[in-house]
Amino acid sequence: MNNNLNIPYRLYSEMVDTLSDSEIRQIAGAVNALINKGERVFNLTIGDFNPKIFPVPEKFIEEVHKAYLEGHTNYPPVNGEPALQETISEYLKHRGNLDYKTDDILISCGGRPLIYAVYQTFVNPGETILYPVPSWNNNYYVHLCRANEITVETKPEDNFMPSAASLEPHLSKAAIVALCSPLNPTGTVLSKESVADICNIILEENKRREKNNIKPLYILFDQIYWLLTHGETVHYSPVLINPEIRKYMVVTDGMSKAYAGTGVRVGWAFSEKSTIDKMKAVLSHIGAFPPKPEQVAAARYLSNHAEVDKFLNKFKSEIKQRLDGFYKVFMDLKAKGFKVNAIAPQAAIYLTVEIDIIGKTKPDGSKINDTKDATKYILDEAKIGLVPFTAFGSFENPTWYRLSVGTCLVSDVEEVGNNLLNALSKLK
Ligand SMILES: Cc1ncc(COP(=O)(O)O)c(C=O)c1O
Repeated sequence: MNNNLNIPYRLYSEMVDTLSDSEIRQIAGAVNALINKGERVFNLTIGDFNPKIFPVPEKFIEEVHKAYLEGHTNYPPVNGEPALQETISEYLKHRGNLDYKTDDILISCGGRPLIYAVYQTFVNPGETILYPVPSWNNNYYVHLCRANEITVETKPEDNFMPSAASLEPHLSKAAIVALCSPLNPTGTVLSKESVADICNIILEENKRREKNNIKPLYILFDQIYWLLTHGETVHYSPVLINPEIRKYMVVTDGMSKAYAGTGVRVGWAFSEKSTIDKMKAVLSHIGAFPPKPEQVAAARYLSNHAEVDKFLNKFKSEIKQRLDGFYKVFMDLKAKGFKVNAIAPQAAIYLTVEIDIIGKTKPDGSKINDTKDATKYILDEAKIGLVPFTAFGSFENPTWYRLSVGTCLVSDVEEVGNNLLNALSKLK
């Protein structure tokens, strides 16, 4: 418009022009380029599943077929099929002892739109989101909302989980605190004590805010991996630790991870009805509903507790087998004197591993200068694709990586171990 004044203009909005592509997808792209060249590469980069190795529950597929044949193909209600809201209400009670009524539940097409809706519901442009790093995707939601962020670096010795003490100094500046447990990328969980302490500091902050007539601080609590805990690990729901937090918290969840259904696109959020109504208003204009047949199918499948238990038990044991296998690989390499480490598996489909090769010299005489070089060396030499924590916004832990098992076979574990041993042995 203003071109006749010779003032340069942006064709697209500033927000879109400055929106960067996911770094994880870029790394996955480099891995795929090698695979396309015919190389045998172990792609442990993506938070997804190979459906041939980890298919969605068969019974759920049957229900989807049935729902199409029954003609459930018109618009679903914007907050979700009533039968699915009913099922989720029972499911939360049955699996998590959580009391949320149908009106407190919003259905959407996966976790992402719900997270976006939480941001849009509570955050004005220019306001601040507080979140620990490494973290999954919060930086993008901050950007989409034209907001600011304060990130708090977590530490390996705390299993990369935030403490109340690390969050507290920043609370007064935040509109929301975004938490995730079990966490992507680490597969670790918040301890009961941490959940209690974090609830306490938020409730204290909100008492101060109430006195000063300032809007309260909310928690976005992403628990999309909560049913994938392994061994003795327990997922702690903040409302069960401190019921007072309920009115200040929105929880997001869905079928993407616990049912290997990343392409299924069924998710739900729960909170106070007043908050859920606002989120519904945001999403209704985006039309972010899951297909109606999938909602009908999910309502029927997820209410079948015996079938769900059967699926989850098998699925979790297969994931654990891989995570335990990789953990052993790293512990064996560590015992051999290599500068590697890992955190024992707790949850989700991820293992947190350290490969400390920055500063080493490669066989060609060149040096590994930074995380990027190290990631490339591991890919080129060991044929293993991993995502460094720097891609999850953590810059104080440049030697740590996410290892995802959603696309690997049990038989891959040994080969990955051998490849890594060879690649590490070549470094000086
Ligand atoms: C922590 C976390 N939350 C939410 C999501 C989004 O899930 P969905 O695929 O249901 O949008 C993911 C996906 O990777 C995730 O890792």
